[in-house]
Amino acid sequence: MTDGFELHPGALTRAEQEALAAEVLAGAEHAPFWRPVVPGGKAMSVRMTGFGPLSWVSDLHGYRYQPLHPQTGRPWPPMPQILLDLWRRFAPHAQQPDACLANLYRGEARMGLHQDKDEIDFSAPVLSVSLGDTAVFRIGQTTRGGPTRSVRLASGDVCLLTGPARMAFHGVDRVIAGSSTVVPGGGRLNLTLRRAR
Ligand code: SIN
Ligand code: FE2
Repeated sequence: MTDGFELHPGALTRAEQEALAAEVLAGAEHAPFWRPVVPGGKAMSVRMTGFGPLSWVSDLHGYRYQPLHPQTGRPWPPMPQILLDLWRRFAPHAQQPDACLANLYRGEARMGLHQDKDEIDFSAPVLSVSLGDTAVFRIGQTTRGGPTRSVRLASGDVCLLTGPARMAFHGVDRVIAGSSTVVPGGGRLNLTLRRAR
């Protein structure tokens, strides 16, 4: 067990999950999901967009948080209220999040083990909301190569990386296609709230 990893299964009702998925896909009409390239030049299999004042981007120059969508040059759509409500519910002592990264997993998309370390404030948690198909999530230690464990994240589940787990390596081994009907068009949406600055 990784200290500080909190899982809250079924934190959102089905109706809330559907409303949030619809709001995210509507936002993506203005701020389209794109496939970031990592500095080594390889495109990620996950597609990304963002909400709120800042979101995370990657390109050949590196990783960073920025206020504008890299393709449209426009600000990210506003943070959905339901996400701010989840932050107040599960991270009542942390300051408001200023960044929401939205990940879309379709087909064979996955995410390799990594740490979230491009934020300035590591005292605030990362709060993650899963919608749609179940993810086979992996979480380990604060050093690469330590023991890991596998956790299934289903639609409506919220998890937090707090305390020692805030810097734990984590990733998504795979997504179980067809395990949910919450996301129109299929697949999985993951929203992570952070304090980037
Ligand atoms: C992430 O680490 O940014 C996303 C994790 C997930 O999709 O559950
Ligand atoms: Fe992450």
